[in-house]
Amino acid sequence: MSTVVCNKVNPVIQSSSEFVLDQHEVHIWYTSVIISVEQENILLSALSPDEVARANRFRFPIHRQRFIAARGMLRNIVGAYLEVDPKVIMFDYSPRGKPYLREQALQFNVSHSQDMAVYAFTLDQPIGVDIEKTQEKYDDAVAARFFSESEYRELSALPQSERALCFYRIWSRKEALIKVSGEGFAFALSSFTVPTIDSLETLAVNFQGESGWLLRSFVAHPEYQSAFATQQTIEKTLIREWK
Ligand SMILES: CC(C)(COP(=O)(O)OP(=O)(O)OC[C@H]1O[C@@H](n2cnc3c(N)ncnc32)[C@H](O)[C@@H]1OP(=O)(O)O)[C@@H](O)C(=O)NCCC(=O)NCCS
Repeated sequence: MSTVVCNKVNPVIQSSSEFVLDQHEVHIWYTSVIISVEQENILLSALSPDEVARANRFRFPIHRQRFIAARGMLRNIVGAYLEVDPKVIMFDYSPRGKPYLREQALQFNVSHSQDMAVYAFTLDQPIGVDIEKTQEKYDDAVAARFFSESEYRELSALPQSERALCFYRIWSRKEALIKVSGEGFAFALSSFTVPTIDSLETLAVNFQGESGWLLRSFVAHPEYQSAFATQQTIEKTLIREWK
């Protein structure tokens, strides 16, 4: 995995106003990862050798293309915040694989599901984001195993027609939380509880024995459930489409 630094520390990110990120702000970008062959080639040319090698390990072209699109657009967005060429950005990785920028105030997290990718950005404080394509059905055994007792009880109390949506809402919120620290699925999903209500408001949650965590669902696409999580106070959230 690559190590090294993007351009040197620049805690006050200065660039076009769309990419000015202040303390206590969350910027969310969402995009479709369906791209043309021409776009794929352009994005591929911005990837690092390890990313190209990873792209080439995908067995199915659609998976390769989605990875190139999601990683290539990540590079473009990060490049816009840092005002650097996307090609020169070097990602470092946490022990469990969370990419980050060493010696940078800019923090980010990425999630993708089928045709969509989402990116969350903050300054200094880590963030987690998740997107899940809402399926018509869900596996009740998965809910029973990975949801907390109260989450499972609330899900099961809903009319059948509302349950799948709620399942993916809960899943995206839980995954956003475990992605903040980079622990991922090493963290027991059933050991904490997120609100199950259908709300796009910022919700306070207890996580890892601490209050002060914030969780917010947002709409990147009507057929997907998305959420971000952070432990910092949030004064402003911008949710935009990356084109
Ligand atoms: C992080 C994790 C929950 C993501 O699950 P997922 O639903 O498959 O994927 P998502 O689309 O939501 O997120 C994937 C993106 O999150 C980021 N990511 C990868 N690992 C991450 C981690 N540990 N924490 C937070 N974000 C992570 C990456 O940007 C990744 O996208 P990329 O592969 O295109 O670069 C899951 O992969 C996990 O638990 N990883 C940890 C694995 C681990 O413990 N490895 C031990 C190695 S020693």
